Amino acid sequence: MWSMIATWPFSLQCVEKGEEILKGGGRALDAVERGIHLVETDPTVDCVGRGGYLNADGELALDAAMMDGDTLKMGVVACVRGFEHPVSIARAVMEKTKHSILVGQYAESFARRMGFQEAPPEYMITDHARLKYEAEKDKATKPSGHDTIGCVALDQAGSLCVATSTSGANLRLPGRVGDTPIIGSGFYVQSGVGGAAATGLGEDIMRTCCSFRVVDLMRRGLSAQDAVNEVVLTAHYTLKQCGLKPDCIALVCMDARGNTAGACNHKGFAYACAREGEAPHLVEVPPIIDKDEEQEG
Ligand code: GLY
Repeated sequence: MWSMIATWPFSLQCVEKGEEILKGGGRALDAVERGIHLVETDPTVDCVGRGGYLNADGELALDAAMMDGDTLKMGVVACVRGFEHPVSIARAVMEKTKHSILVGQYAESFARRMGFQEAPPEYMITDHARLKYEAEKDKATKPSGHDTIGCVALDQAGSLCVATSTSGANLRLPGRVGDTPIIGSGFYVQSGVGGAAATGLGEDIMRTCCSFRVVDLMRRGLSAQDAVNEVVLTAHYTLKQCGLKPDCIALVCMDARGNTAGACNHKGFAYACAREGEAPHLVEVPPIIDKDEEQEG
């Protein structure tokens, strides 16, 4: 059995690539990495890689992570500028160092040492991203946009893996890091148990450690759907209980048998899915609670 999921409709291309690799007996680690490459390169995806949201200084600084469910090893890079595939640099941190997290200029010099090719700003920053930045940078309104590709795969050998990649929140303070490269918040996986990844406003997802909680509930015997529902509801109401107004939180997860599920607290979330016997397709996720209706009411 093999299975793969990734957040948002723009990830259909990611699971199509993953399907090619996994149905031929390839590894989950390769499926998530090579699938995410397509989204990192796609200039029309405004929240991941090339063409992604700029920070308040007009720079494109990317965050990414990979975690191997067999070993619990992980690799993370945050605030990396000038490289097209931060997910591959994260994989190199995981596989080629004794460490887990490298940030900013140190992650960039590590990438150079590892032979990753640099990508100039005129390639990485699209006209669309620059125009959006110029139009929004001086507005007092809250900047919108903070999504992520979070991808979980199970290969035929039973290994689970998760990887994430994002340009972070639109107009963030330079140096700000969201949930995407934070273990337990933006991602978590353990082979034989399950994996999860998050998308939404990083600050809210980090406050509630969403991804580890989903995997831990599956470990305790909850189905993928019950686990992810429980975590989105608990995160949403915990934030409210603490006097905060919950922003977008969406999660996808997979159990050790390749069963998949998603849950969210807002309209419009969908994920891409492929598994043995099921061609790549999109799954729309109705909100389990709608933060916008709740705030109006
Ligand atoms: N979820 C992406 C971020 O907040 O940076």
